[in-house]
Amino acid sequence: MDFQSVIANRKSGQGNTHLELQMLAIGAADHSIPDYQLSAWLMAECFQPLNEEETAWLTVAMAKTGAQLDLTGLPKPWIDKHSTGGVGDKTTIVLLPLLASCGLTIVKMSGRGLGITGGTVDKLESVPGFRMHLTPEELKTQAAAIGLAISGQTSHLAPADKTLYELRDATATVESIPLIVSSILSKKLAGGAEMVVLDVKCGSGGFMPDFESAKKLALALSETGKRIGMPVYISITEMEQPLGRMVGNLLEVQEAAWVLRGGTNRFTELCVELAAHTLVVAECTDSHEKGLSIAWAALREGRALLKAKQWFAAQGAEVDVFGIKDRLPKAKVQLTVSNPKGKGYVSKVDARSVGAAVVHLGGGREVVTDIIDPTAGVECLKHVGDQVEEDEPIFIVHAPSNHLAEQAAEQLREGFEVSEEPVKPLPLILETL
Ligand code: URA
Repeated sequence: MDFQSVIANRKSGQGNTHLELQMLAIGAADHSIPDYQLSAWLMAECFQPLNEEETAWLTVAMAKTGAQLDLTGLPKPWIDKHSTGGVGDKTTIVLLPLLASCGLTIVKMSGRGLGITGGTVDKLESVPGFRMHLTPEELKTQAAAIGLAISGQTSHLAPADKTLYELRDATATVESIPLIVSSILSKKLAGGAEMVVLDVKCGSGGFMPDFESAKKLALALSETGKRIGMPVYISITEMEQPLGRMVGNLLEVQEAAWVLRGGTNRFTELCVELAAHTLVVAECTDSHEKGLSIAWAALREGRALLKAKQWFAAQGAEVDVFGIKDRLPKAKVQLTVSNPKGKGYVSKVDARSVGAAVVHLGGGREVVTDIIDPTAGVECLKHVGDQVEEDEPIFIVHAPSNHLAEQAAEQLREGFEVSEEPVKPLPLILETL
């Protein structure tokens, strides 16, 4: 079979057979299909999307292109948590130790930042010494010892996704829902998960800009999960404004540490909601209300913090990020940005503008080869619905230079709006399915 006919079948709307999609996955993983042919297929797919059956075939085929983690011996259920990515989304850093302190065992594969959305790998690697690349044996041993382990994606797990993702990024074909579904779920399958708890971000700071597209993605993830025998439980959550106060790699680790020490804000509430949802689907409790009280207790009684300390030590962190006075590096410049829009109620803190400002400061990558500045970022002092005075501080920019700080401030002011009328805070969770 030549790959040209696989492309032609996709383009004509005839669709692809199981065998054709297996060939595609293998050829992407071992690079036996050239990038230009894969790119042509990806573009054809955007116009003639994979149907549900084809999406499931491709997902399994991609998962099988590398090793599949065998978690036998670890307590069940083998659960993975995933977010489609957003601005200020450091949920994993709180949720993993929180869930482990409630008795769950979690082995998680994480990714790097994509575009304006930060990645857990970059956040944790910004802590001196933190090792993000564990071997399958190390992952299992650590999870057996302390209940949690995390690793960046290696070239051994779902390598087809690595090739296809890079091509999608370069060919404007990232947004296709079947391609997002197969990309996410193939990695979860390869990571040995039996079930997945997924946070689909909805709004300007995520991949899905509106509720309709987020719901479509959520339903597609859920349907494919059913077809491949890996149940997927989904919360669609708000991403119009940054999540919590901090955006930027080390700043986000610091905010996560603050939450684990007992700090509460909107971000804490989301972590606790997602933890409760996970405890219910993992059958650790039988109602969301009970899940909420278990999760709050683990935070308030310091059990989640203790677990987080064990986790960071196990993965090599050389600095205690959980102390009140941590010894983490700081950016050279701190610039306070004041409200230019007059007294009133905050009606917009555009997550996209904040994410783009952080990337521009060096906190994310404009091209794949960019080196991240772990100290760069933005503190968001106001959220939608808050009252604000004229000239009151609304952001603090953490930058490597005055020049970059001023540019970021300009971008941040543009994405900030104030209304004279009271504005309702945005809901945290839009739908759970
Ligand atoms: N996250 C992934 O892993 N893949 C996608 O395609 C989008 C988000």
